[in-house]
Amino acid sequence: MNLMPPLRGASRGPFFLVAFVGLMLGVWWMDGANSPTPADDAVTPPFPEWDAPIVPELAAAGAELFRSKCAACHNVTGDEKLGPNLADVTRRESASWMRGMILRPDSMTEHDATARELKARYAVQMTVPGGISGGDARAVYEFLRRGDQGRAER
Ligand code: HEC
Repeated sequence: MNLMPPLRGASRGPFFLVAFVGLMLGVWWMDGANSPTPADDAVTPPFPEWDAPIVPELAAAGAELFRSKCAACHNVTGDEKLGPNLADVTRRESASWMRGMILRPDSMTEHDATARELKARYAVQMTVPGGISGGDARAVYEFLRRGDQGRAER
């Protein structure tokens, strides 16, 4: 029995179809890689408490991500923007609260009293443009923690 048809004439069709579908699946997968999905949320490990040792490379990556994903609405120093100033937020709030707020702000507004109060005060629902992956959320948290540890030492 010949399982491999020769790549000639009409039999080439199915091969290209499979390759094309594979490519599209790849594009779809990469496109989704940066959006939070409930599955992504579920597999993201717990965040460390604010005073745990800092991983410098992670904090550096987080600084970049903060600029692109958060700085439109948040300052860490200086004036408030659309949302609250985030200085000292990792000391005020628990690690798990921070994890929830960065990954699923909509769900926090729905289920968490503190998040609901903030929403009422700022009159805008926090939403991260393009979403954020669990790993990126963790990096931004590291950046915020690094700043808060620095302020605590002063
Ligand atoms: C579109 C504007 C917007 C963007 C972008 C945004 N936020 Fe927010 N954020 C808000 C608003 C508004 C609130 C107040 C709660 C609410 O209204 O939902 C908030 C609240 C928070 C809080 C709670 C602050 C406190 O004082 O307890 C944290 C932490 C936070 N945001 C972190 C982030 C991080 C980290 C990013 C980037 C990954 C981000 N936010 C991106 C608007 C934004």
